[in-house]
Amino acid sequence: MTPVEVIRKKRDGGTLTREEMHAFISGYVANEIPDYQMAALLMAVYFNGMTADERAALTDVMLHSGVVVDLSHIPGVKVDKHSTGGVGDKVSLILAPMVAACGVPVPMISGRGLGHTGGTLDKLEAIPGFRTDLSIEEYKRVIAETGLVLIGQTKEIAPADKRMYALRDVTATVESIPLIAGSIMSKKLAEGIDALVLDIKTGNGAFMHTFEDSAALAEALVSIGTSMGKRTVGYITDMNQPLGYMIGNWLEVVESVECLKGRAVADLMEVTYVLGGTMVWLGKRAASIDEGIERCKEAIASGKAFEKFCEVVARQGGDPSYLEHPQRYPRPRHVVEVRSTASGYVTGYATMQIGLLAIALGAGRTKVDDIIDPKAGIIITKKIGDRVERDELLGTIATDRGDVLDRARAAMQSFVAVGETTPSRQQLVHAFVDETGVKPWTTPSLWKGMNR
Ligand code: URA
Repeated sequence: MTPVEVIRKKRDGGTLTREEMHAFISGYVANEIPDYQMAALLMAVYFNGMTADERAALTDVMLHSGVVVDLSHIPGVKVDKHSTGGVGDKVSLILAPMVAACGVPVPMISGRGLGHTGGTLDKLEAIPGFRTDLSIEEYKRVIAETGLVLIGQTKEIAPADKRMYALRDVTATVESIPLIAGSIMSKKLAEGIDALVLDIKTGNGAFMHTFEDSAALAEALVSIGTSMGKRTVGYITDMNQPLGYMIGNWLEVVESVECLKGRAVADLMEVTYVLGGTMVWLGKRAASIDEGIERCKEAIASGKAFEKFCEVVARQGGDPSYLEHPQRYPRPRHVVEVRSTASGYVTGYATMQIGLLAIALGAGRTKVDDIIDPKAGIIITKKIGDRVERDELLGTIATDRGDVLDRARAAMQSFVAVGETTPSRQQLVHAFVDETGVKPWTTPSLWKGMNR
């Protein structure tokens, strides 16, 4: 089939074969098929979707467009976690060392901030000296020596995704479940993992705003992982307010270190323990998810999780003394308090707008080549359901950009909704997803010994 015939078939609602996708995508990576034909195919997929078999074949073709790392020489079940992205989502920084401290090897390839969401790589790079650009050989050495490695997508990993993603970004074809699923899973399956836990965010700070869309994405991701022979489970977790209290790269490192040192931030640690406990269970270091959660709590309480974080930071060139003494970090030029204009209860957050505000303060990019200011960000002081009085502190803004301060203060006030009545308690972990489908989730044992 010629590229035009493949595009026409998908445009008309047909089902592409693995061979057709392989020919098209390998032709694209080899520069034999131009951007405009790939863009047309992406738009056809956007409108017509893909069957489960097509999604698996697409992922497989994208995965094999580059190197698939072999970690079979490393003992143990290698497990990673992937989040679809949110605001203040610093879970990986706490979870990866916590799970590694439980004896489960964690090879993690993370991404940069995307849209209004932050990225683990940008957060790690806020630590002075930390290198995320390890070669594949270094990646293998670090995971073998420390049981944990944290890097970014190299040019060898899923190059088809790198090019297709850039094209999707400028052709309005990002928000497509098969394309998102292929993109995420091709990178994750290239890491050398045996199992994967997915955190699919849902709500006004997530890419998927409704539970139904999040569930459809979750099922697509889990079914691809399972069909490729990797034990894959996921959770649908809430993103209707920032996770934790801090947003911005260095601020998120600081909040993560607090949690690693045992000073739990309740919502952040609830998600972290559920995902981490599941990784420990998949990694065969616990007989159940509940037991995995207990192992994770022990790793935090004993200080082993924080030690593991310091170890990997040092191993990847970072200076762990900043984790012990965060006050040594350079300070932002402006630190501005934002106060409430009303009394009542916090009833909601415009979460995506909070993420975009953090970017405007310097914490993210609006163009690919923008330089991030790791000091920039927002600290919120209230969560949904908290009481707030007029003129009480709602949050703090940190930035070097003096010209955005007045606008930022007013914007922040408008992004926190204050009402007369207490909203009902927010459920954080909505559902568990495995190859049999989406199920409601409760973690009754989680709160033993935790202050909520
Ligand atoms: N993250 C990815 O890696 N790819 C997508 O398409 C969306 C989010």
